[in-house]
Amino acid sequence: MKKSIHSVVFGIGLLVLVWACKRDEPELIKPNITICDTSMTPPQWECKNTAFQLVEPEYFPPFPQRIKEKEFTVERIALGRKLFFEKKLSGDNTMSCGSCHNQKLGFTDNGKAVSVGIDNIAGTKNSMALFNLAYSPAFFWDGRAATLEKQALLPVEDPIEMHESWQNAINKLKGDEEYTKMFYEAFCTEDYDSTHAAEAITQFELTLISGNSEFDKGIAATGNAPGISPQMSEAAVKGWRIFNSEPRQNGGGGDCFHCHSIDNSLFTNNQFMNNGIKPNPEAGFAAVTGDDRNWGQFKVPSLRNIEHTGPYMHDGSIETLEEVIEFYNSGVHANSRNLDPLIAFGDTTGGSNVSIAQGLNLSIEDKANLLAFLKALSDPDFLNNSDFSDQNN
Ligand code: HEC
Ligand code: HEC
Repeated sequence: MKKSIHSVVFGIGLLVLVWACKRDEPELIKPNITICDTSMTPPQWECKNTAFQLVEPEYFPPFPQRIKEKEFTVERIALGRKLFFEKKLSGDNTMSCGSCHNQKLGFTDNGKAVSVGIDNIAGTKNSMALFNLAYSPAFFWDGRAATLEKQALLPVEDPIEMHESWQNAINKLKGDEEYTKMFYEAFCTEDYDSTHAAEAITQFELTLISGNSEFDKGIAATGNAPGISPQMSEAAVKGWRIFNSEPRQNGGGGDCFHCHSIDNSLFTNNQFMNNGIKPNPEAGFAAVTGDDRNWGQFKVPSLRNIEHTGPYMHDGSIETLEEVIEFYNSGVHANSRNLDPLIAFGDTTGGSNVSIAQGLNLSIEDKANLLAFLKALSDPDFLNNSDFSDQNN
């Protein structure tokens, strides 16, 4: 009798152990280590793995399956946050991800047209805003990183960004007992490597959700269409109509909604397109797909928090939002190689015979209203959320 109780207890114990080991495997990255290695001397840290439920705002689309299946834990997110702001990840210990991704500016680079790395070498790209990343099909302006986990590995070793090897970076972290503890609590191993770091950073990045702008509050207060409300000014409501209207011969239509989608609440259709900022754009997405039909296409950025993320476009070539609006109104390069048909010809299925490339003819008032709407997409709760701030300093 006693013996069988023992074996039942042993059996349950084994099951729990197997289950615990299984749970510890991150979704997309299988770290190259044995989790729960019982041959190790018992560590002084606790393997915690407190499950964390990441929830999308109710009016956002459901998270894609790969995000739903991810095993978020409180400890991994906390570790990712610390790593995001960790300067030891750079060659001379002066730069973290947060150096070029400032929370107050929608996680963009401090008003710089293009980012500059630790060796003072300027890149060619404008730093990208970081929020609502769960929905992105690919990362970087040209989509060259397929997942956030892969993206997170790249800035550290990029010679014009943080210019450090992951080997060195991890060695530096291993000299810091706080990290030994945090990695153990998050991944149940002292022998961690860059894949664990990337997984933790990814989990932190996925918690960066921005969906509480004046526009969202206006919608919540007034139903589906943001009527004038304490949250939305009259100008912003008029601007919302312009944003959502087909172009017209005598103004009043901005035609922004086809690409910066409103219906999914994300203000991007998550595609790669050429909006005509140059006659001869760089390859962009074509460099990734190898297909000329993608020439000059760049990721359609979300317009949430846009007031705070300038300068604009992948090359930072447009300084202010007023100038962006004037660009769409009258400055699109109609001869740009592979200009998107929506801009070149308009929505021909919708019966429109006017297009952005022909000029929007927006009045001064139209432009002011459109600007007011774009500013209503700012989300101060997100920009100031203390869960996302740098705690390392
Ligand atoms: C030197 C400045 C700099 C540093 C440091 C930096 N980034 Fe970036 N980040 C950029 C720039 C510039 C881009 C756009 C680059 C491109 O498209 O080629 C970018 C793009 C991204 C994107 C793509 C977003 C999207 O919507 O596609 C993510 C995610 C990101 N960075 C995360 C990080 C993380 C994580 C770190 C730290 C490990 C980091 N960045 C460090 C400047 C920087
Ligand atoms: C055919 C799709 C398309 C249409 C229509 C369109 N955009 Fe864009 N928008 C883009 C793409 C693509 C980019 C990024 C281009 C680049 O960097 O090369 C962009 C960039 C922007 C940016 C800069 C974002 C940033 O983070 O740098 C703003 C602001 C913007 N658009 C606003 C608008 C407004 C306002 C309208 C309507 C008047 C509009 N867009 C119409 C595709 C479009």
